Amino acid sequence: MRKELNEFSGLIEKAKEKFGLLVEEQLRRVEEMKKPLGKTDYSKISPIIIGLCWGDGIGPVISKHAQTVLAHVLGDEVDKGKIIFRDIAGLTIENRAKHKKAIPDDVLKEIKACDVILKGPTTTPQAGDKWPNIESANVAMRRYLDLFANVRPVRIPQEGIDWCFFRENTEGAYILGSRGFDVSEDLSVDFKIITEQGAERIIRMAFEYAKKNNIDRVTVVTKSNVVKTTDGRFSRVAFRVAKEYSQIKLDEWYIDIMTAKLLDPARRKEFKVFVLPNLYGDILTDEAAQLQGGVGTAGSANIGWCWAMFEAIHGSAPRMVKDGRDKFADPSSMIRASSMLLRHIGFSEYAQKVEMALDVCGQFEKKIAITARDTGATAAEYTQYLLSWINNPQLKIRWEKGESA
Ligand code: IPM
Ligand code: MG
Repeated sequence: MRKELNEFSGLIEKAKEKFGLLVEEQLRRVEEMKKPLGKTDYSKISPIIIGLCWGDGIGPVISKHAQTVLAHVLGDEVDKGKIIFRDIAGLTIENRAKHKKAIPDDVLKEIKACDVILKGPTTTPQAGDKWPNIESANVAMRRYLDLFANVRPVRIPQEGIDWCFFRENTEGAYILGSRGFDVSEDLSVDFKIITEQGAERIIRMAFEYAKKNNIDRVTVVTKSNVVKTTDGRFSRVAFRVAKEYSQIKLDEWYIDIMTAKLLDPARRKEFKVFVLPNLYGDILTDEAAQLQGGVGTAGSANIGWCWAMFEAIHGSAPRMVKDGRDKFADPSSMIRASSMLLRHIGFSEYAQKVEMALDVCGQFEKKIAITARDTGATAAEYTQYLLSWINNPQLKIRWEKGESA
């Protein structure tokens, strides 16, 4: 067939070529996902190497306190040689900018040599700031290590809220987030990708979590009425997987009304487990965290078959550093991430202690509080407060009493 040439032909050919390469890459990724992969069994690894990436902005402050808590509860395991902490320098915006890479090659190699990572927030450059506009280190690490599940719990015990969000972490609007292009001076295009395999693995994980915890409901959040192809697939996969779990009811909500329902005290505690594509998960979990006491209180697990990385749900807050307020940053997010790390590598008892102390200090007793400025406690003071509860033999009793004590 003879191609009609028109005034756009050159632009269209260029765009087709770029699009073709992206599609080819994604088809190859799908083939990779189809291959069976061995899952890391932490009970068989000794020593377990915990890599520590300090990040930048408020990262070094809050990560240091999280590591103090981890080192405290894991003291015996470190002495027995079962746990090794390993510092990984170089995941700073300065070093990343110097190499013009989201994660410089040598840093990535060091990360991959660890079994599990605790990662402080890292600055994500944006067009117009002083840094080269490199990709977010979080997003890159999630992709390089194939950390497909972003698990974000939010609990408000006084209200009976116990939510767990399963955010798809490698696809959606993020996977080609740095690869969109300007087709012409006037036309910009970005891409959103959902694959059958990518959707299925996160949805299955959400259902398995519900099953294990005797939860009879999973909520899938999409905008499949409008974003029909990609969100449509995500929703379809969810209903297909749900058929295998006869005890669990699946309901679908659209992201817009879901953001409203999280603000509805009469309805919100009905929800338990959420599973959602990447960008909706990013947005909804910030909202949920705010209801729990702020993004500074929420931790996040990034889980793949081989590695896992634990971090705060928020960014590096450069504004706080600029104002000299970094020492007042809330370390709870990184400490909660640490408790998730402990649970993931098989130390649930220690994890539970840390989680109970976080609830007692942050939600029940509140003897001192973080306000992110000098009107509140410093991160160091707050960490000492937490440690005093972790060491207190009354911790469980106090936690069970909740607010009423
Ligand atoms: C998060 C953060 C990141 C994201 C940023 C820092 C790139 O907001 O972990 O939710 O968008 O995923
Ligand atoms: Mg976010």
